[in-house]
Amino acid sequence: MKDALGAVQSALILGGDSDIAFATCKRLASGRLRSLVLAGRNLERLEERAIQLRQTAPPLSVRCIRLDALAFDRHAAFVDEAFADGDIDLVLVAFGLLGDQQHDEHDARSAVDVIQTNFTGAVSLLIPIADRLIEQGHGTIVVLSTVAAERARRSNFIYGASKAGLDWFAQGLGDALHGKGVDVMIVRPGFATSKMTANLKTPPMATDPDSVAIAIENGLRRRKEIIWAPGKLRCVMTVLRHLPRPVFRKIPL
Ligand SMILES: NC(=O)c1ccc[n+]([C@@H]2O[C@H](COP(=O)([O-])OP(=O)(O)OC[C@H]3O[C@@H](n4cnc5c(N)ncnc54)[C@H](OP(=O)(O)O)[C@@H]3O)[C@@H](O)[C@H]2O)c1
Repeated sequence: MKDALGAVQSALILGGDSDIAFATCKRLASGRLRSLVLAGRNLERLEERAIQLRQTAPPLSVRCIRLDALAFDRHAAFVDEAFADGDIDLVLVAFGLLGDQQHDEHDARSAVDVIQTNFTGAVSLLIPIADRLIEQGHGTIVVLSTVAAERARRSNFIYGASKAGLDWFAQGLGDALHGKGVDVMIVRPGFATSKMTANLKTPPMATDPDSVAIAIENGLRRRKEIIWAPGKLRCVMTVLRHLPRPVFRKIPL
């Protein structure tokens, strides 16, 4: 249960090896977080993260469990395992696949992998998780969307489409859960320097996992429904979203 001040004491991370998720866990661990479940495909790497997190804030208890966002038929059993120790205050959806746009737009199988991971996988997990949170009567779901979800861009429209689906699903889920004690917060980071973007040139207004984690922590404290990281991207995206297509097309984004 959250403490009297509403601070997160237990968390489940879907995509526990994500750099943004790790930075977020470190911040929550320096607060009131006491128990953490890291879920991901590579248990060895999760365990390395867990070792560091246990050192950061003893007596933080960390459990690592296997999750493949694409293994839809195992998601119900996964949710049982994740909630086996009791209530969870915060669920962070952090897994994601960027793909390789130039390759994937000519390879349907790879494009479908991006869509299935980022959108279908998240939907398949969030439906049973939302029911758990309704049952326990409290909880917050934090969904890592992206500014790329706000308008289709030539350079990454497959990833953007998958995240747009996720973003819209999360908005609707937040409305469905309103009044049931469960909140949904959507996070729209810009380019963040992480494993996901390690091979890409860093653009202007880039951010990093620690800054996104701070934005998430502040957003949780203020019970925000949507946040941008950095915050100034909200204004930038408002302008970009409304540009006529012939103009938008010419901007090298
Ligand atoms: N970095 C950015 O610029 C940026 C910007 C906006 C939004 N985001 C979003 O923020 C989230 C975290 O990204 P990040 O920057 O922290 O990147 P990251 O360190 O690469 O984390 C992404 C994680 O997703 C996991 N993953 C991929 N496919 C999976 C699957 N089928 N099942 C389970 N896990 C899977 C990866 O696990 P494996 O190690 O097993 O591959 C990896 O740990 C993602 O949703 C991303 O789309 C990132």
